[in-house]
Amino acid sequence: MTGKELREKYINFFVSKGHKQVSGKSLIPENDPTVLFTTAGMHPLVPYLLGQEHPAGKRLVNYQKCIRTGDIDSVGDATHLTFFEMLGNWSLGDYFKEEALAWSYEFLTSKEWLGIDKKKLSVTVFEGEEETGVPPDTEAIEIWKKLGIPEERIYMLPREDNWWGPAGETGPCGPDSEMFIDVGKAACKADCKPGCSCGKYIEIWNDVFMQYNKQKDGTYEKMARPCVDTGMGLERTVAIMLGKKSVYDTEFFIPILKKIEQASGLVYGTNEDKDISMRIIADHVKASVFMIGDPNGIKPSNLGQGYILRRLIRRAIRHGRKLGVTGQFLSLPAGVVIEMYGGTYPELLEKKDFILKEIEIEEERFSSTLAKGEAEFEKMVPNILKGKERVIPGRLAFRLYDTFGFPIEITQELAAEHGLTVDTQGFDEAARKHQELSKMGADKVFKGGLADSGEITTKYHTATHLLHKALRMVLGDHVQQKGSNITSERLRFDFAHEQAMTPDEIKKVEDIVNRQIEANLPIAMELMSPAAAKEQGALAFFENKYEEEVKVYNIGDFSKEVCGGPHVERTGVVGKFKITKEQSSSAGVRRIRGELV
Ligand code: ALA
Repeated sequence: MTGKELREKYINFFVSKGHKQVSGKSLIPENDPTVLFTTAGMHPLVPYLLGQEHPAGKRLVNYQKCIRTGDIDSVGDATHLTFFEMLGNWSLGDYFKEEALAWSYEFLTSKEWLGIDKKKLSVTVFEGEEETGVPPDTEAIEIWKKLGIPEERIYMLPREDNWWGPAGETGPCGPDSEMFIDVGKAACKADCKPGCSCGKYIEIWNDVFMQYNKQKDGTYEKMARPCVDTGMGLERTVAIMLGKKSVYDTEFFIPILKKIEQASGLVYGTNEDKDISMRIIADHVKASVFMIGDPNGIKPSNLGQGYILRRLIRRAIRHGRKLGVTGQFLSLPAGVVIEMYGGTYPELLEKKDFILKEIEIEEERFSSTLAKGEAEFEKMVPNILKGKERVIPGRLAFRLYDTFGFPIEITQELAAEHGLTVDTQGFDEAARKHQELSKMGADKVFKGGLADSGEITTKYHTATHLLHKALRMVLGDHVQQKGSNITSERLRFDFAHEQAMTPDEIKKVEDIVNRQIEANLPIAMELMSPAAAKEQGALAFFENKYEEEVKVYNIGDFSKEVCGGPHVERTGVVGKFKITKEQSSSAGVRRIRGELV
């Protein structure tokens, strides 16, 4: 079984059950400040899970590239990855538990499909909880029993194990039922069961019964139309089908590990510590290639997604040093990732030179200070070992970050090797004082991966309104928004206009935007009917024409625009705006990239 075969089988199976195949989306979510990366197949589908009609219908299937940094500390074990592919199928208010579970079971066990031995299969269901009033999922238990899973292999587990979502702070979520394969290892303890991390039971598929929309205030609103969201891990499932001990023993990693062997002169599989470093490098390089090579690709930086990318690359470099590699080496494994995946993800081939260049630049940048930083760290250690607390103070961790480019996580790893910890709160405080990092706390952002990058994207959101109005003032009222995409690094704005903008026009637009920022204009929101908004001359690009009330944001008297928000309270906090690129997007549409500096 290859990855290609499994992708095809999965799609074909669900197409035979009336699903339409839809394409996977970008790794960098569009217009969603609540998450940094696409972490599951459901993520780009949130508006449709919440009720919007999907053009392809009510039954969808696809494969989706995903990034999860929440499990970063487990990367290097048999199953956890930062980059992985998810196979998924969805019911948008169509079928529910009965069909979802029956089809999962059929695909897993039928000889025509995966033909997994039924005796190796265990399942878990939600045990219920008082807090939300969601009852135990006895319905799922009955369905599993009817399908042929004996009661002793059906486990009831709490929220921690059997509740999924939302992907960000808010959105669709619900109880789930997960499918595990017993890989035949001895039980680690008498009550070892699915959910235990010893590696006996590997979760390969999750059927989520989405019935709630989590609100900003933490409450759960019932969804008008329950949905099903399922996700199967591609790499894990292939590893299991082939009887491999880990995902690293499959086509998804063997060629990458070969390049790391070549660069280090070591042989994979001979030393456990070194194997883990090799696996971490392989995983992080792959994730980095996909982040840079994404259609909404990013570069290493000190903010948001770019910071996570930077940390992955730097962590890979440090593990390279642990293997004894002295020079630059990441382009070897990065190059092979592009070759391995270029057929399925052609964007990687298109951006090959750019990807390799960015990795090389970052490697050059960090390699020069890594050794000095490590020496500095070693100098600190004896003093700290003398102390009672055995904690690296935040300000020292910050110095390593600021002077030598050590992401806090590298300092934590170095500390752990000496039996020390790091005062991360102190680090955040030092960073805040220095105003170099986003206010969110770099550690939390990285661990979460799902953390809210809201503050920065909110500023970009407001800057986008200012830009839109300024463009209309300089170029004319034919300027209309055709698309907008915001990350924590930049805004991108597409608008109707025929010719390239002149340098003079660009300067005028920048000046107008910056004048509004300097004026520190207040931003106010009003709710009104779409008709009233139109009458008042608000710029509007309705996604949902049938909404009863829309939000209209006023920036002083300068701009009035219908928008879901959020926005800053006053323009003064936005920072200085700069147009970094102006180019054609498609016929009659120009594209601007702008940054806040
Ligand atoms: N969204 C679900 C998951 O990621 C299927 O497990």
